[in-house]
Amino acid sequence: MTSLAGLLPRPVHVRPAPGTYRFVTPGIPAQVSSVVRFDPAVLPPEGYRITITPHGVTTVAADRAGAYYAEVTLRQLLGPDAFRAADIHSGPWVLPCGEIEDHPRFSWRGCLLDVARHFMPKAGVFRFIDLMAVHRLNVLHLHLTDDQGWRIEVPEYPLLTEVGSWREGSWVGRPPDGTADHDGRPHGGFYPTEDLREIVAYAAARHVTVVPEVDIPGHSQAAIAAYPELGVTGAPLRVLTRWGISDNVLNVSEETVEFYRRVFTHVASLFPSPVICLGGDEVPTTQWARSPLARQRMAELGLSSPAHLHGWFVSRLAAHLSSLGRRALGWDEILDGGSVPRSTIVASWRGEDAGIRAAAAGHDVVMCPEQETYLDHRQSDHPDEPIPVGFRRTLADVHAYEPIPASMPAAAAARVLGAQAQVWTEHLDSPRRVDYAAFPRLAAFAEVVWSRGEGRSLAEFERRLAEHHLPRLDALGVEYRPLDGPRPWQTRPGVPGRIREPS
Ligand code: ACM
Repeated sequence: MTSLAGLLPRPVHVRPAPGTYRFVTPGIPAQVSSVVRFDPAVLPPEGYRITITPHGVTTVAADRAGAYYAEVTLRQLLGPDAFRAADIHSGPWVLPCGEIEDHPRFSWRGCLLDVARHFMPKAGVFRFIDLMAVHRLNVLHLHLTDDQGWRIEVPEYPLLTEVGSWREGSWVGRPPDGTADHDGRPHGGFYPTEDLREIVAYAAARHVTVVPEVDIPGHSQAAIAAYPELGVTGAPLRVLTRWGISDNVLNVSEETVEFYRRVFTHVASLFPSPVICLGGDEVPTTQWARSPLARQRMAELGLSSPAHLHGWFVSRLAAHLSSLGRRALGWDEILDGGSVPRSTIVASWRGEDAGIRAAAAGHDVVMCPEQETYLDHRQSDHPDEPIPVGFRRTLADVHAYEPIPASMPAAAAARVLGAQAQVWTEHLDSPRRVDYAAFPRLAAFAEVVWSRGEGRSLAEFERRLAEHHLPRLDALGVEYRPLDGPRPWQTRPGVPGRIREPS
């Protein structure tokens, strides 16, 4: 049994009472015996109230998500053994008496998983969804395409996966300390249609919405490797084996727009999410600037610079998503390239300013500032930290993150749907490495997006984490980064565990 003070994320109200409720069941309870009543009039969306007495458990839930989160809470109270894959608990199960009232602070409690840079097999995605659900995160942003890999089967365009889902190798680290050459290890994989349907259904059963991302018009080299006619130069390309940003962007022909309209129609047929991400980040315009076709397009559209082709491209596909009854989500560069429809949701990743501007301009916003929410970034400057890229972002930093910037006016703040952590995988080539990067920082992030900001205390969080939550992660088999320092990593034979990011 875990006390009411051991819940993570921290609930809105907890009122402990004397006594316990004990029950016996063979194995781990599939569901904690609880009478559930739905009452959306008294509880906010996704909210629940649990009352535990020595005689039983009653739950009032606002909706099905609330009932699900009540169940997650009861499981946490049963203790770590309730999270094991097989029963090793001799019973009886015991719950502490008291009342818990809870609802989330934000409706978008997201985590991006980059399955493009390193493919994660389906079972790993299921496991990641389970871990999100344990933390009451409810949006899995699945980054399905990039320069280094295309992971979604599109039956109409089979080469996207036949060619685009494999690359010849990967950089290990980054120059100057990592190799500037690839490791020579072919790498790849993709999700067939049935697997994606299964992932969507698995997530939905855990109240997680999968928001798919197909990144356009940059980060598209894998697609161009499959269909060179999508590119600006027409030259044959290979799926990119290095990290960083490729100059090889999509061309601006009507045929390419039509190709992606068909791709997004297929994406929408697989993913019921009301929101679909079309990327839009990091789009170099060097090739467009030299391209007669791009110049002709600019003249036709009356655009003054190649940068505006970016906005035009994104707007065309956003309008297509709209015609399919979906909303587009794009990274904050989409604001730089001209006017995108107001209905487009902006993911503010280059800091908070873009989110503040976007909200002021009437866009809904998801806060994803890389300084705060990129979990591939290093967790300390310790020499044993594996491939410590980016900003140093400790557990304490993530726990201190505040998704509503202090300078944001209240009207704009109402447009912040929530926040999202990012697990980019250039340097995370296995579920083990994802575990290490994501946990326990994702537990801190879950508290940021679920719990009230008032009363947040790092010391109390760290105590709760160490005493109650890490044992849950242990039971779930999560190889999190220990609180007292890094686990030394040997990433691959012959490759140093630590590779410095160039300053
Ligand atoms: C991003 O990190 N390029 C969204």
